[in-house]
Amino acid sequence: MATGTRTITVTVDSVEYTDPVEPRMLLVQYLREVLGKTGTAIGCDTTNCGACTVLFDGYGIKSCTMLAVEADGHEITTIEGLTPDEGLHPLQESFNACHGLQCGFCTPGMIMQSASLLAENPHPSDTEIRAGLEGNLCRCTGYQNIVAAVRTAAEEGASR
Ligand code: FES
Ligand code: FES
Repeated sequence: MATGTRTITVTVDSVEYTDPVEPRMLLVQYLREVLGKTGTAIGCDTTNCGACTVLFDGYGIKSCTMLAVEADGHEITTIEGLTPDEGLHPLQESFNACHGLQCGFCTPGMIMQSASLLAENPHPSDTEIRAGLEGNLCRCTGYQNIVAAVRTAAEEGASR
């Protein structure tokens, strides 16, 4: 182990990884650069946009807000882990069906935060969907279709 590094063990998308990391490495950098989980995007690096959202022990967090060492012993789910081996997750289906994306840059983060929201509240109102996604920014869609996508996924039981 190189001087100044710390070894962490993290379960990411159901696989346990043990790696040396620099104490200053952000969790999003670990996911992308060490594990190759590039579905998690970096939009701002300053906790504003939500593009880097992943599930941390089941709850949506911005992975640019956390150090990799803080994930030691915890469980992370990325968009790669949410996506089934065959086909798409119901939220991915509904974002597609409802045209809840344009450029798609915000979409993995939107879907991960939506998954977190529906796990806590399987039948949110539109107001609750907007509140649940208020930390995730989209430059393209105007949000209407994103809200419709989450509502549709909820109606179809996406939280199960
Ligand atoms: S990249 Fe993490 S909030 Fe924007
Ligand atoms: S679809 Fe382009 S930023 Fe949201």
